[in-house]
Order: sequence, then C-alpha cells, then structure tokens
Amino acid sequence: MRDFLADLQRLEEAGSGAIRAAAAIDRLEEVRVEILGRKARLTQLLRSVRDLPPEHRRTAGSEANRVKQRLQELLEQRTAELTADQKEEGPEVDLTLPGRPRWRGARHPCTLVTDEICGIFKELGFVRARGPEAETTWYNFTALNTPLDHPAADEQDTFYLDADVVLRTHTSPVQARVMEKTKPPVRIVVPGVVYRRDPFDASHAPAFDQIEGLAVDEGINFVEFKATIGYFVRRFFGEDTATRFRPSFFPFTEPSAELDVSCAICHGEGCSACKGTGWVEIMGAGMVDPAVFDNVGYDSERYTGYAFGMGVGRIAMLRYRIPDIRLLYEGDVRFLGQFARA
Ligand code: PHE
Repeated sequence: MRDFLADLQRLEEAGSGAIRAAAAIDRLEEVRVEILGRKARLTQLLRSVRDLPPEHRRTAGSEANRVKQRLQELLEQRTAELTADQKEEGPEVDLTLPGRPRWRGARHPCTLVTDEICGIFKELGFVRARGPEAETTWYNFTALNTPLDHPAADEQDTFYLDADVVLRTHTSPVQARVMEKTKPPVRIVVPGVVYRRDPFDASHAPAFDQIEGLAVDEGINFVEFKATIGYFVRRFFGEDTATRFRPSFFPFTEPSAELDVSCAICHGEGCSACKGTGWVEIMGAGMVDPAVFDNVGYDSERYTGYAFGMGVGRIAMLRYRIPDIRLLYEGDVRFLGQFARA
C-alpha cells in the first residue's frame, strides 16, 4: 500500500511537470497519452486497485482518481493556454496572401479562331454580317441557284422546321440577304452556326461553325480571289503554308473550287489530322454564279465577285491540335477552360 501511494505521488509530480513543460499542442497530446493513455502507469495502478487487500481499496482508489482528475484538469488548463498563445500570434487567416482567382470563363476555341479570321479580313476591308439560323428555303437554297430537288435540300441532309423553313445548312444565305439590301461593292465575312443531319463523330457535328466570305465589285476576278485567300492563309497559318485549289462544284459559284492548306501539324508529311495526305481542306469557294446576282437584283453583266465558306471547327482543330471535333461541342469546361487567357 505504501508503494502504491508513493507511486501515485511520483506520477502526479512527473505528470504535472510534463504538462507544464509541453510548449505546443502536439507535444501536449503526446504527454496526455503518456500519462493518461491506456498503457500509462497511472491507468495500470487504477486497474490494480481491485487486487489490493480489501481494507486498502477505498483509500487507494480515491487517491488514484484524485490524481487522475488533477492531471486531467492541468491538461485542460494547459490546452487553453497554448491555444490562446497561438491566437496571439496572429489571425489564422493570412490576410497578406493574394486573393484566389475566380473562374471568369474562357472564350471558346471557335470564337477565338472566328475573331482572328474576321480580324485578318477586316484589314482587307471586309465587315462582319450576320443572318438568322432558322432560314427560309428561298435564301438557303433557291436564291443560291440550288433547286429544291437538289440532294443538299433533301430531308436526309437538312433539318426542316416547316415546309419552307430550315435550320440553315450553310452561312451562304447571308450572301443573298446582304446583297438584297446593299449596293455593290460588298465585302463581308459572316460567322455563324449551321446545321446538317450528320452523325456526331470525330470529324462531323450536326451543328458547327462556319465563316462565309463574299466580295462583289466591278472587275473582281479569280486572281484577286487567289491573292486574297493566299494572304489570309499565310497570315493565319504561317508564311510557309502551301495552298492548293481543287476544282469542285457548288450551284452558287462558277467556277467552284475547294481549298486545301498544307497540314499545319505534320507540315505535309502525312499524319492522322490530314489522314496521311499532307493536306487539309478548309473551305469551299468560287466565283459567284451570275444566276445568284440575278436573284438578288444585281446587274450580272456589270458585277463579278467571289465567295467562300470555311469550317471554323476544322481550322480550330488544326490551330490547337484538337483530335476530335466533338470536344468543341460538348461543353466540357475541363476542355474549354484550357483556352482561358491569363
Ligand atoms: N456553302 C458551302 C458549303 O457549306 C461553301 C461555299 C461557300 C462554297 C461559298 C462556295 C462559296 O459547303
């Protein structure tokens, strides 16, 4: 019994000393485990009370509990002191840190490319124009010299909203709308979304971005067209970019051509972006068919012009090395956020 009480006294002294000496909250927690934890000597002593002769149990028990309680109180006191010290050191929030930047949104890669392209054409005297996405079959097809029995006007390829209203399949109807309202000369670029009943796969989307271009004046010829497009391509894709016109057909241009640029990704070597050919088609184009001038009331004997329509998505894919067109139209901010500018 005497040993028991002596042990207790030693533990009380050592324990309170350790508590006082603990200079930080972490250390204090260690001390708590050492003196009051499951394996602590005091805990063992408390447990051994029941093994003492019955006449000593009460004194031993109450003394051991007193020591335990005292140490617990000291621990609480010291905890309070240490937390107070920490507070005095300063606020837990560091007010000198720079603010967290807020998500301010980013411009869509198609918007970036559209603005850049329109900016280049602006320097050449082209102004921006717009037109409706729900378009009459007159502007979308007929005015553009495309009879309604042309395959492009087929319901298989075109979203009809009504017997004679469609989701425009290209930005070309804006050519006719602008010419009707404006006397030549005309130089416009027309960015906008167009719709086709195409599958949604790596290179097709049922809704996608185009930019139309139109220049009409007296004396405009294919040479001016080639020079203008060549200038645009070198400005946009780089000085060393090659261009190639391939004969083609559009009902509203004659002659018609498709324009390829040398692949910006592999520089003509052949890669998956250009399907191994070294060339990527970026636009359909041609000299405006006189029938279109007649439909909008322009004198087709006096005026000539050229028109082109390019796929913005494809150009954005080349510019930013985007492997799949769907990424542009899924609205995933993890993708789109990469185009945020600092
Ligand atoms: N509108 C055509 C298309 O979407 C492209 C084009 C525009 C062709 C202007 C010639 C002139 O495929």
